[in-house]
Amino acid sequence: MPTLHWEGQSLAVAPGQTALDALLGAGVSIPHSCRAGACQSCLLQATAGEIPPSSQQGLKPALIAQGYLLACLCRPEADLHLTAPGPGARVPALITKLTWLSDSVLQVHLTTSESLDHRPGQYLTLLRDDGLARSYSIAGQEIELHVRRIPGGAMSNWLADVEPGTPVTLQGPAGDCFYTPGDPHQPLLLAGAGTGLAPLYGILRDALRRDHQGPIWLYHGALNESGLYLTAELEALAATYPNFQYRPTLFHRDGPLPEVLSAAHPKLAGWRGFVCGDPQIVNILKKRLFLAGMASRAISADAFLPSTLK
Ligand SMILES: Cc1cc2nc3c(=O)[nH]c(=O)nc-3n(C[C@H](O)[C@H](O)[C@H](O)COP(=O)(O)OP(=O)(O)OC[C@H]3O[C@@H](n4cnc5c(N)ncnc54)[C@H](O)[C@@H]3O)c2cc1C
Ligand code: FES
Repeated sequence: MPTLHWEGQSLAVAPGQTALDALLGAGVSIPHSCRAGACQSCLLQATAGEIPPSSQQGLKPALIAQGYLLACLCRPEADLHLTAPGPGARVPALITKLTWLSDSVLQVHLTTSESLDHRPGQYLTLLRDDGLARSYSIAGQEIELHVRRIPGGAMSNWLADVEPGTPVTLQGPAGDCFYTPGDPHQPLLLAGAGTGLAPLYGILRDALRRDHQGPIWLYHGALNESGLYLTAELEALAATYPNFQYRPTLFHRDGPLPEVLSAAHPKLAGWRGFVCGDPQIVNILKKRLFLAGMASRAISADAFLPSTLK
């Protein structure tokens, strides 16, 4: 049985068991959320031993080179020495401003003393000082998050009650959902529901700031009017930029978002797509874009996998 070494402790890892489960089982508090390799909140660094390559999927090359891995994907097959992420992977931050964008969506602004090399649309892991960790997409050039308040949700309800000036820690950024200049005339399709708008809003403004010339369509799906937010800001952008079309899509008025999208855009060869938010909707949208002819490498997606409370 391989042994996991952590801060002077040696833990036997059962066959197939993840490093995260072995550490949590031994009472070690490791930040984690999705347990599926999507949120990167369980990032740890290996200082010695054999790193299973599958535990580094989705990590930036710079992190891989430094021996970082995701504990929820790491099933050690040989002895492994692990430690918490170093200062290069995490930065202290302050919550500077909190604004309700709708009844349930809170806009959270943060600032860091060290600059964070992020692109709007990527995501960060926000850590509370007791180690609670959740990931959120970045909605702009500054660090702006859109957090939906989930009934009973640990992080979203804490954020809804904190005061500006509260310190937190940020890890990341991660993810490849961001605008890449290089083809300014390519049509862009941005689609998501709920706070899936956060990365799309960041990508949209980044594309416009970089003078993207091709058409940009943004579909924001919600059950009804109360699920929409930033409508005035998006309408103002659509009025300013003739190449930008904003399509708020209400389930009760327009039907399901994938159907609306398929009817409006049956042919998407040559387009670039971004889909974000609820994992089920993201999966359906990805398939629809692909079936309409969009190349799979042209589709960037971030599924907001929830935490699994185990
Ligand atoms: C890459 C990535 C990016 C993300 N970006 C964003 C973002 O920009 N904005 C945002 O609001 N969230 C985002 N999330 C989700 C976020 O990380 C948290 O999962 C979410 O805020 C809930 O955390 P919580 O601590 O409040 O609730 P928890 O305490 O984790 O959950 C409480 C209960 O609610 C359930 N639950 C959690 N989320 C949902 C949901 N959406 N709908 C229904 N039930 C739910 C849980 O399964 C649990 O039973 C992202 C997730 C990932 C992986
Ligand atoms: S990536 Fe490991 S808990 Fe989310």
